[in-house]
Amino acid sequence: MPLSKIIAVANQKGSVSTTSTALNVSGALGILDRKVLLVDADPQRNATAGLGILTKNLRFSVENLFKRDVDTQQCILETHSPNLKIIPGSTKLAELEINIENTNINRLKEALSKVQNEYDYIIIDCPPSLGFLTLNSFVASDSIIIPVQCEFVELDGLSKLLSTIQHIRKTSNLNLDIEGVLLTMNDKQSGHTNPIYSELIRYFDDLIFKTILKKNISIHKASHFNVNGVDYKASREVSINYMNLSREIIRNQNLEKLKKSKKQTQIINDTNEHTSFYQTIKKLNQQDLKPFSFKDKSFNKLHGCTKKEITSILGIIYDELEDARVYRISDKIGLFKKNYLYLFFDENKVKYIQLRRFKFS
Ligand SMILES: Nc1ncnc2c1ncn2[C@@H]1O[C@H](COP(=O)(O)OP(=O)(O)OP(=O)(O)O)[C@@H](O)[C@H]1O
Ligand SMILES: [Mg+2]
Repeated sequence: MPLSKIIAVANQKGSVSTTSTALNVSGALGILDRKVLLVDADPQRNATAGLGILTKNLRFSVENLFKRDVDTQQCILETHSPNLKIIPGSTKLAELEINIENTNINRLKEALSKVQNEYDYIIIDCPPSLGFLTLNSFVASDSIIIPVQCEFVELDGLSKLLSTIQHIRKTSNLNLDIEGVLLTMNDKQSGHTNPIYSELIRYFDDLIFKTILKKNISIHKASHFNVNGVDYKASREVSINYMNLSREIIRNQNLEKLKKSKKQTQIINDTNEHTSFYQTIKKLNQQDLKPFSFKDKSFNKLHGCTKKEITSILGIIYDELEDARVYRISDKIGLFKKNYLYLFFDENKVKYIQLRRFKFS
């Protein structure tokens, strides 16, 4: 008898590998001989496209589950993998998301309950927002995988996500758990030198998956070829990452009772969007990420400087992204407003400078 666990993959901050994770975890669980249904609840339909499904001639999609005009079974499609089926996404979901008359957050739960016993896992790819579609997904789910990139700007979004989980637990789905927090880091980052990583580990403790998702160029190739990364031979590192993650998910299920530990309940119940994570942010600001001082603000003179020169002028790097270095600017620092200087390099010289402001509210 299948265990039928429903897992949403969600982070309202976009481009954090939510869809890649939903897609590849579904594929990997299938390879590990679990029966999986992937539900594409994002109007962008990236998970559907990622499985090579052309949506043009589809009769039914996840939209029908919300409209309740067709049996759930009729919306399910086969994929290239015998263990993996999908309920494809629809761009029309975007209309549902913004229609304020849509208040029934039980629709997806009701629809999925009709097929739940046919699968070991139902994985829901959520859109990058905390609207109607994500709330429906949370109500339908047993747990949530939260992909997080180890970058400072992530923390703001996490607070809101945790508050939403807390709200759903209080109002509609008592048993909603955090399946795990999946950290993504690029090759240059290592756990020991990344203060965000250490802080997340400290905060989430054993809710952090042991598997760390490496930023890997072959994922781009995988989505480009419309092939799920796990099946794409060249993306060995990604495959190994997602196979390991899926083994953790299976293990989690065996340890279910243990997982519902005090820590998890404490994290969710103690979440207060306006306090807990902001305290973390404040702490990080003060201790780990001492800002540099840049009084004259004429950033243009940094054009053409080498990385070494930049280091000697600006000091501590706040974050190193694939294509840019990020520095924090010390003036106008309030808890809720941060200014960052992004330096884009071309052949080791600053090519492009951008000032970005992030508002935490
Ligand atoms: N581990 C990774 N290494 C490199 N690139 C990645 C990785 N994971 C995802 N990507 C790429 O980053 C982009 C965003 O990934 P993905 O669509 O999975 O994120 P998302 O959080 O679902 O985004 P969205 O907000 O559009 O829903 C895609 O182009 C994807 O190919
Ligand atoms: Mg997505």
